[in-house]
Amino acid sequence: MSSPPAAADQATRSLREPELRAPADGPLIQVTGLEKTYQTARGPLTLFKDLDLQVVSGELVAIVGQSGAGKSTLLHILGALDAPSAGTVYCASTNVATLSPRQAAAFRNREIGYVWQFHYLLPEFSAQENVAMPLLARGQPKREALAVAANWLREVGLDDRRDHRPGELSGGEQQRVALARALVNNPRLLLADEPTGDLDEHTAGQVFDLIERLHANHGLTSILVTHNMDLAARCTRVLRLECGRLAMSPTGLKRNST
Ligand SMILES: Nc1ncnc2c1ncn2[C@@H]1O[C@H](COP(=O)(O)OP(=O)(O)OP(=O)(O)O)[C@@H](O)[C@H]1O
Ligand SMILES: [Mg+2]
Repeated sequence: MSSPPAAADQATRSLREPELRAPADGPLIQVTGLEKTYQTARGPLTLFKDLDLQVVSGELVAIVGQSGAGKSTLLHILGALDAPSAGTVYCASTNVATLSPRQAAAFRNREIGYVWQFHYLLPEFSAQENVAMPLLARGQPKREALAVAANWLREVGLDDRRDHRPGELSGGEQQRVALARALVNNPRLLLADEPTGDLDEHTAGQVFDLIERLHANHGLTSILVTHNMDLAARCTRVLRLECGRLAMSPTGLKRNST
């Protein structure tokens, strides 16, 4: 699911066509009237109805909500991994709903860094090779890709773990490598789906510290799905997904009113 897509020149060219682009100075994410219905054996399952979302550049937004509310599905739609049933979804100034599979792959490669609850690192490769993978998928020469990956590993505090395979790393270290891999292509957006959900409280706090630092240092716009309200409260805004819509969570209101 998190396999790095190859960039396609033609797809990248078509993404510059005006009808796929949002106004240059608008919010980085602008979702209007989003609907998502899955067709299941038991009939249609509607997750979102008329959902709106605006995120401006530089925000670190937490999305919380009950299991099954549709948080992962929303991230998948923003990241062009799933298609909306209706509505418009501009993400990183691109109308993601209209992208062909090739365009979606190029879009993800260029604009989106994705981190999941589980690291999905490739077990037979070293930490450095895992981080270099998206660059190799873009056709960057191996020596260069490994050098860039080494810099990222230094940035996430794992300079001395370069040669370790994922099975030789702790859970927190694995997530640090996954973060380095997500950002190695310098995307504008970081989408993180319960990135600390599999970690103990202390390690979760450390990984969140790192996300905050990377977010600030690289001028990212980030959306973080979490069940951890303490971590959510550290974000610039907390939105609760409930009954198919997003609303400001009381945690977010409290923080924003201080
Ligand atoms: N491809 C699919 N086809 C049909 N139903 C789906 C599909 N993907 C997800 N769902 C359903 O959509 C609902 C929302 O799923 P989603 O994974 O987005 O929830 P979530 O809020 O991320 O939950 P959690 O907090 O447990 O991760 C669930 O009830 C799930 O069963
Ligand atoms: Mg989920």
